[in-house]
Amino acid sequence: MINSTASACGKIILSGEYAVVFGYPGIAVPSPLRVNMTFEENDRGSEIIWNGITGNDHWNTYIRKICELVGAPKGSLTIENDLPLGKGMGASTAMVVALARVFGLDRAQALAIEHQMNPGHSGIDFAVIWEEKSLLYKKGEEPEPIHLSFDLQNTTLIDTGAPNETTTELVAWVKERKEELVDALETIGTCTERIIRGEDLKRVMRDHHRAQVALGVVPKEVQSLIEEIEKKGGAAKVIGAGGRTGGGGMVLTYRAA
Ligand code: PMV
Repeated sequence: MINSTASACGKIILSGEYAVVFGYPGIAVPSPLRVNMTFEENDRGSEIIWNGITGNDHWNTYIRKICELVGAPKGSLTIENDLPLGKGMGASTAMVVALARVFGLDRAQALAIEHQMNPGHSGIDFAVIWEEKSLLYKKGEEPEPIHLSFDLQNTTLIDTGAPNETTTELVAWVKERKEELVDALETIGTCTERIIRGEDLKRVMRDHHRAQVALGVVPKEVQSLIEEIEKKGGAAKVIGAGGRTGGGGMVLTYRAA
C-alpha cells in the first residue's frame, strides 16, 4: 500500500517569458511558496482533498489526469497548496513534479508527463521546479545554475487575478504572430543577458515589461498598475504567461535598495 508525501516549489521568471519558447535565454528562480502532496492508497476511490489555496473543477480534472498518467492506484490525495493557481507561478508544473515525486518517477518520466499536460511549453518551468535552483535556461541546452548579484528581498509579488486564457493558448497565439513580434522577443532575450552581466535590475525590468506589452500579454489594468509603480521609482513585470483578458497573474515588483 502506497503512503507517500512529496513537495515541489513554484517558480518566478525574472526574464525570458515567451522568448525562451523560441530559443532565447531566460532566468527563473524557485519560489519559496510550495505545494505539498500526500497520497494514501485505499479502496475508497480517488478523492482529492485541498488545503490552502484550493483548486476548482478544472484543477481536479487536471490532477486526476496526472494521476492516470503516473498510474496511481485508488486512494486519497491531500494537497496542501501555497501556490497561486493559474497565475504564472508554475503551479501546473509543480503539480506534475510533486505527483511524479509521490509516485517515485525519475526526471525523464516526469518531463514526459509535463509534455502531455502542458503542450508547447519551453521547459523553463520544469527545469527550475525540478532542480529547485536559480537557472539560466536555454531550450535544448543543459540549464545552468546561476548566482544572482541582487537581493530578491527587494521584490514583492502582487496578485492581479487569473487571466482568462491558458498558457498553452497564449503560447500558440504568440507563435502565430512570431514574425511581427521578433523585436519584442529579441528584447526579452537581451534582458536575460543584461541581468547576467549585472546590469541594474530596475532598468532591465522596465524594458522587459515593455516587450511583454508589445507581445500583447499584459492586460490594460495591469499596464496601469505597473505605470504607477514606475512613477514611484520602482519597476515591475508580469512573471509568467500573462493574459489577453482578465488578470495578468502575479506581478513582480522591484524597489531599488
Ligand atoms: O506557464 P507560465 O505562466 O508560468 O509561463 C511560462 C513562460 C512562457 O514562456 C510563457 C511559456 C514557456 O513554457 O516558456
